[in-house]
Amino acid sequence: MKVLGIMGSPRVGGNSDILLDEALAGAKVAGAEVEKIILDKKKISGCKDCKKCNKMGVCAIKDDMVEIQKKILEAYAIIHSVPVYFWSMTSQMKAYLDRWCVFFDEEWRWQKVYYPKMRGKRIGLITVCGDPDVHTADPIVHSFKSTAEMTKMNWLGTIMTSASDKGDIAENETAKKQAWELGRKAATP
Ligand SMILES: Cc1cc2nc3c(=O)[nH]c(=O)nc-3n(C[C@H](O)[C@H](O)[C@H](O)COP(=O)(O)O)c2cc1C
Repeated sequence: MKVLGIMGSPRVGGNSDILLDEALAGAKVAGAEVEKIILDKKKISGCKDCKKCNKMGVCAIKDDMVEIQKKILEAYAIIHSVPVYFWSMTSQMKAYLDRWCVFFDEEWRWQKVYYPKMRGKRIGLITVCGDPDVHTADPIVHSFKSTAEMTKMNWLGTIMTSASDKGDIAENETAKKQAWELGRKAATP
């Protein structure tokens, strides 16, 4: 059983990264093999809406997302961690999410070939914003949760936290515990 962590902040060692590590530690304790992907270190172009994937189930863009798509298919659960940038997700995370198009047909149903692996896939989210009001991240939650609901994935829930400077979240024991629990839940059948 593999739990995949998708890190959407360009700030390696920052708040999203720290909480994702906590989540993956929780998953590991629950018996999962874990892997973290730092999107900022990958080359991921935006979706071009060329619709080639609708017919072939294969993306026309040959970049690092091809490998990540394979890892998504094989993962038991996927935990995303991302800060708020201008009331939204980072560009790294958005490019990644848009490239999920490859998994769908023209009516936004799973491609038949991917359906057995994607239906019921566990998916969770961690958000960090500078604003003390964690609901600043609501648009990100809406995006991931709606995707999960539309496609009948298994929504694990969201950890929403606030922190500003790099690494500040390390002092927040509550957020770290919540992230750890999210990871444990992700890996617990
Ligand atoms: C370009 C940019 C835009 C940001 N926009 C917002 C915002 O709209 N709302 C907010 O609460 N925080 C905003 N922040 C603050 C980050 O969300 C915050 O510093 C967070 O802790 C960064 O997480 P990280 O350490 O994982 O990168 C922004 C930061 C940057 C660099």
